[in-house]
Amino acid sequence: MRTTFTDGHVSVTGYCSMKKEQVVNCQFSVWYPIFKKHTIKSLILPLPQNVIDYLLDDGTLVVSGSDHNTQQTHTNNSDLDAEEDIQWSDDETTTTVTAPEFPEFTAKVLEAINALGGRVFPKLNWSAPRDANWIALNSSLQCHSLSDIFLLFKSSDFITHDLTQPFLQCSDQDSPDPVVNYELVLRKWSELIPGGEFRCFVKENKLIAISQRDYTQYYQHILKQEEQICQAIQEFFSQHIQYNFLDEDFVFDVYRDSQGRVWLIDLNPFGEVTDSLLFSWNELTSGGEIAQEGPAFRYTTSEVTVQPSPCLSYRIPRDFVDLSTGEDAYKLIDFLKLKKSQQEESEEEEEENAAQ
Ligand SMILES: Nc1ncnc2c1ncn2[C@@H]1O[C@H](COP(=O)(O)OP(=O)(O)O)[C@@H](O)[C@H]1O
Ligand SMILES: [Mg+2]
Repeated sequence: MRTTFTDGHVSVTGYCSMKKEQVVNCQFSVWYPIFKKHTIKSLILPLPQNVIDYLLDDGTLVVSGSDHNTQQTHTNNSDLDAEEDIQWSDDETTTTVTAPEFPEFTAKVLEAINALGGRVFPKLNWSAPRDANWIALNSSLQCHSLSDIFLLFKSSDFITHDLTQPFLQCSDQDSPDPVVNYELVLRKWSELIPGGEFRCFVKENKLIAISQRDYTQYYQHILKQEEQICQAIQEFFSQHIQYNFLDEDFVFDVYRDSQGRVWLIDLNPFGEVTDSLLFSWNELTSGGEIAQEGPAFRYTTSEVTVQPSPCLSYRIPRDFVDLSTGEDAYKLIDFLKLKKSQQEESEEEEEENAAQ
């Protein structure tokens, strides 16, 4: 869930009146127990307040690295559970900041990661840090340790949105915000092929529309298997989803695997916080032409319409990332040479000035 759309525009509710209650119902810990059998195995850990504070703190990010996953879980750390304060050095030129440590929480997270096979996909109550994958060494959301998760979360606007303004676009702004218990969701890492992902729009418990999720790409197999895909999703909906959720209006995401089996990936509010992909919210809410008989199914039909990846605008230049991660050693060497020559130049200047 988010307010800033992938093309960068921020929308104020216009077409639909999504209620705070609907947002509450779409939290992972609300829908997961209902649909557990049909989705990826996951574990939910409550986020301690000191971890929330750390995630919201804009200070320089230094992850201590003490939590590297060695398949060993720390056991009795309860005497260490107070986190260390961030310590700023007095000397401005050598400012360092030490990341706080959360031994008890770290141990729980490691245990959960190991229980899920050592590789996880992290989320908060609603959102994954999809806008921050560029910052990770592997350019992916796959995490092995709490420091991997912190790096993504601290770099993500979607995560900040979950933490600071989850009810921003609701129509019932006069009612008090419901209490949110923040949770770290760890999902077993699964290699999902983007062409197998679809978003399904449900209004009054009726499946009205299905959109290819990765709509910026053309997938030939969708064109070829249009009928089968649409039918498999409809069956999945009527057998497992319909009437089982707490709302009658919602958006669910599915994955159709190579065997044709459909899995639930996520549940989202029926409203403009959720990207309507190849539909418009106006179409989805007006009750007009779409979904006469069965849902409308839209997918990208040719290479012509292929667009840049939606999260591209969140990125910083690749050169900068390579430099910061040391991924491209040659770039780093060039950069250091440049720095050195600049330094030499300024030293020469100083010498000249001194000589005068
Ligand atoms: N368990 C997982 N392992 C690997 N990738 C995943 C997993 N769950 C989701 N993804 C990928 O991440 C994308 C976003 O996940 P999702 O749970 O829908 O987060 P959000 O609601 O923030 O968009 C999905 O479209 C899918 O491609
Ligand atoms: Mg979602």
